[in-house]
Amino acid sequence: MEVKTAIKNNRSIRKYKDTIVSKDLIKNILESGRLAPSANNKQPWKYMIINDLETKTKLKENKIFKQEFVYKAPTLIICCANSKADSTKGFNKIFDNPYDMRVICDLAISSQNIILRAKELGLGTCYIGWMNRTKIKKILNIPKKYIIPFIITLGYPDEEPNARPRKELNEIIIKN
Ligand SMILES: Cc1cc2nc3c(=O)[nH]c(=O)nc-3n(C[C@H](O)[C@H](O)[C@H](O)COP(=O)(O)O)c2cc1C
Repeated sequence: MEVKTAIKNNRSIRKYKDTIVSKDLIKNILESGRLAPSANNKQPWKYMIINDLETKTKLKENKIFKQEFVYKAPTLIICCANSKADSTKGFNKIFDNPYDMRVICDLAISSQNIILRAKELGLGTCYIGWMNRTKIKKILNIPKKYIIPFIITLGYPDEEPNARPRKELNEIIIKN
C-alpha cells in the first residue's frame, strides 16, 4: 500500500472484530513507531500494550475511558512520552512548558507511523484522548514522569466509516 493511499483511506475505527492481533503483528507495527524522527533524536516515547481481559476490566471498573468501545478493542496501545527526556534550547523559546511540548510532538509523530503501518497491515485504529489521565497511570503503574496525551485502540475493523470532512488546501495555507 502506498503511503498516500494509507493516509487517504485511513479512518478512526470504533468497532472491532473479536479476532486477536498476534504478537508478531503488534511488534511489526511498533517497529514503525520506533523508526520515527524526534527532536535531538531523543526518542522519548514508550508504549504499553494491553491485550488481556483482566487489565481491560480494571480500566473499565475505574471508568478510565468514557467510550464503551475502547474496552472492547482487542488491543490498547498506551502512548507515553517521557517528560524528563532532555529539552533543546530552541523549544524553550517557543513553548511555556518546553519539555512537555517537545516530547508530546515526538510521541505524536511516532504514533502516526504506528497508525499508518497498522492500516497497511489491514488493521484499524483510533486515537483516544478522552480519558482520566491521572488515574490511568495509577492503575497501570506507569511512573509519574510519563505524559499520556492519548492511547490507540487496535484491532481488525468491523465497520467501514465514511470519510470525515477535511478543510480545503487553501484554508490551511497561510499566505504572505
Ligand atoms: C489526539 C486525538 C485524540 C482523539 N480522541 C478521540 C477520543 O477520545 N474518542 C474518539 O472516539 N475519537 C477520538 N479521536 C478521533 C477523531 O475524532 C478523528 O480522528 C476525527 O474525527 C477524524 O475522523 P477520521 O479519523 O475517521 O478521519 C481522536 C483523534 C486524535 C488525533
